[in-house]
Amino acid sequence: MKSNSSNEALKRSVGIAAARLVADGMVCGMGTGSTARFFVEEVGRRMREEGVRVTGVPTSFQSRLLCQQQGIPLCDAQDCRRIDLAVDGADEVDPDLNVMKGGGAAHTMEKLVATMASQFVVIVDESKLVPRLGTTIDVPIEVILPALGYVTAVVKRLGGEPRVRMGTNKDGPVVTDNGQLVIDAKFGSEVDLREVDDRLHHTPGVLDTGLFFDLATKVLVGVSNSMSVRSMERKA
Ligand code: A5P
Repeated sequence: MKSNSSNEALKRSVGIAAARLVADGMVCGMGTGSTARFFVEEVGRRMREEGVRVTGVPTSFQSRLLCQQQGIPLCDAQDCRRIDLAVDGADEVDPDLNVMKGGGAAHTMEKLVATMASQFVVIVDESKLVPRLGTTIDVPIEVILPALGYVTAVVKRLGGEPRVRMGTNKDGPVVTDNGQLVIDAKFGSEVDLREVDDRLHHTPGVLDTGLFFDLATKVLVGVSNSMSVRSMERKA
């Protein structure tokens, strides 16, 4: 399991703020991680106490279980004709609202759901704001097992330092919800991560990266000194 940072109160406040964006009858992408958990729990509370009807699209096994605990009816992405709103946490957010995800190895499904959604709202505490993606976390790349050696070589050619993500409380590598592996790749600040992302999307064996460029329509940030939620919208 990914280790959780502190900032629980800020995570809760952005989760609750995002749940206020949910309207009756919406189909909602339900994010993964310790921040998205508060969103899912608040949606569950609104369903029970306010009678709001919501269908959830899970982004991971963790998200599915939490929705089930909250009594939120589910629709898998492959069965959905529309997703009105997706809400998810992030590992990093840059000043242009580009996002790095995948600290919990769920980024492939998270990106599918975010891309299918009419609105993608990212919820973070202020510790996730960075000047440049790749500042605090390496780029997660989900790969199929037979491609591990090939993709590792491609990452090195692109200027990255790859390493296979290893499990905690488990011997051997992390195995994702898709039954695949994750390479975490460190890139220097001189490397253009959009270019890297583009090249990796043309590399056989790569499922997806944790780089979410131009996808977030809104970012809600929990700010500690005022205990408030700041809303940042993508510029048209
Ligand atoms: C899962 O793979 C990730 O993309 C998470 O959504 C991301 O790591 C944010 O998680 P926290 O809210 O727990 O920091």
